[in-house]
Amino acid sequence: MSEKTIRLIDQRYQALAMPAPDQRLLGSMVKDRLGRSLHDLRVSVTDRCNFRCAYCMPKSVFNRDYDFLPHAALLSFEEIERLARVFLVLGTEKIRITGGEPLLRKHLERLIAMLSRLNTLQGKMPDLTLTTNGALLRKKAKVLRDAGLSRLTVSLDAIDDSIFRRMNDVDFPVADVLDGLQAAKEAGFESIKVNMVVQRGVNDQQILPMLEHFRHSGHILRFIEFMDVGSSNGWSMTSVLPSADIIRMIERQYRIHPLEENYRGEVARRWALDDGSLEIGLIASVSEPFCQDCTRARLSTDGRLYNCLFASEGWDLRGLLRSGASDHDLAASIAALWHQRSDRYSAMRTEATVSLRRRNKIEMSYIGG
Ligand code: GTP
Ligand code: 5AD
Ligand code: SF4
Ligand code: SF4
Repeated sequence: MSEKTIRLIDQRYQALAMPAPDQRLLGSMVKDRLGRSLHDLRVSVTDRCNFRCAYCMPKSVFNRDYDFLPHAALLSFEEIERLARVFLVLGTEKIRITGGEPLLRKHLERLIAMLSRLNTLQGKMPDLTLTTNGALLRKKAKVLRDAGLSRLTVSLDAIDDSIFRRMNDVDFPVADVLDGLQAAKEAGFESIKVNMVVQRGVNDQQILPMLEHFRHSGHILRFIEFMDVGSSNGWSMTSVLPSADIIRMIERQYRIHPLEENYRGEVARRWALDDGSLEIGLIASVSEPFCQDCTRARLSTDGRLYNCLFASEGWDLRGLLRSGASDHDLAASIAALWHQRSDRYSAMRTEATVSLRRRNKIEMSYIGG
């Protein structure tokens, strides 16, 4: 690349307030300042959701007056594919599609088909997975599977219908999510992960009923500690039920044993019921943070790159894309951004940092879980 081209690129980054690319970072696996690779890319495809879970999109904020992104602000499927291709060159192997509720994005299966045709550096198809609330799965599971989606995670916070309706706050019946899970199984998805965010005093009494319900289902049930993401979910440490307490609660009723981790940096600690009827995961993002192995980059609905779930600023990759950057420019830029990353919010979380950051964190519905 000529000096002149590099200078031009530098000017473009300056205009976008991004660090200039370092040409030496290209062509190899990028690592951040803590030695973490860029293994996972999480892509939010919509900031909208058909649920209004109070801890994520409370009705008081996400109402008629809320400014959701206009269609033109969203990354197009072609733009997402192009960025994904660049991430794969930098060493990414897993792509998770999230939202908001990703199944609300029209023709999502087209994007899945486009991404499933890409290759990792090892020449394999990326691990392509999606997190959904399950409401539209009966309609969508088969087309998504046929398009090449490899895995699926379904969020479900309660098995009791009235508690679930209250939690999603749009009176959505639990039976329809369970039917969606069934449709996903019929479509060929295996070991579907069911994610339950546990809030003390809200749904902690649902832990054992959820566990009992999912025995022998073939799904993996995971309990997630409630986190202080975003600025509108009214989080406090007292609403977190630590994973250790959840394990003790389960041990009082069932015989369980720990399982080996599947891969380094896996966010869930794995357990299984001794009778083999269920695998359980505990995601202790508050009581035992896993930042030291965090290899996840997040791409927001409007194409900003966030290096941490708790970041307050993202980098405008959409601006770069739409200003005519080449793939090489994009790769250089993403590599440079990752190279300077030192985020480890959860590892440093205290009550003080939580209130300090409360006002300016981005919402999870915009960046994905
Ligand atoms: P698999 O690819 O199936 O192994 O998924 P995963 O284990 O990476 O988990 P998933 O993406 O389903 O994340 C589950 C939950 O863990 C999320 O909804 C978050 O609550 C939490 N989580 C995931 N990634 C992060 C992260 O980078 N930081 C924090 N603090 N929490 C995370
Ligand atoms: N804490 C933990 N997990 C959360 N999620 C959303 N908000 C939180 C939170 N505050 C999870 C839910 C959601 C997924 C995208 O992320 O499971 O459906
Ligand atoms: Fe929607 Fe999931 Fe947020 Fe609930 S937690 S409002 S289902 S994105
Ligand atoms: Fe990664 Fe940030 Fe979560 Fe830590 S808090 S695990 S750095 S996303």
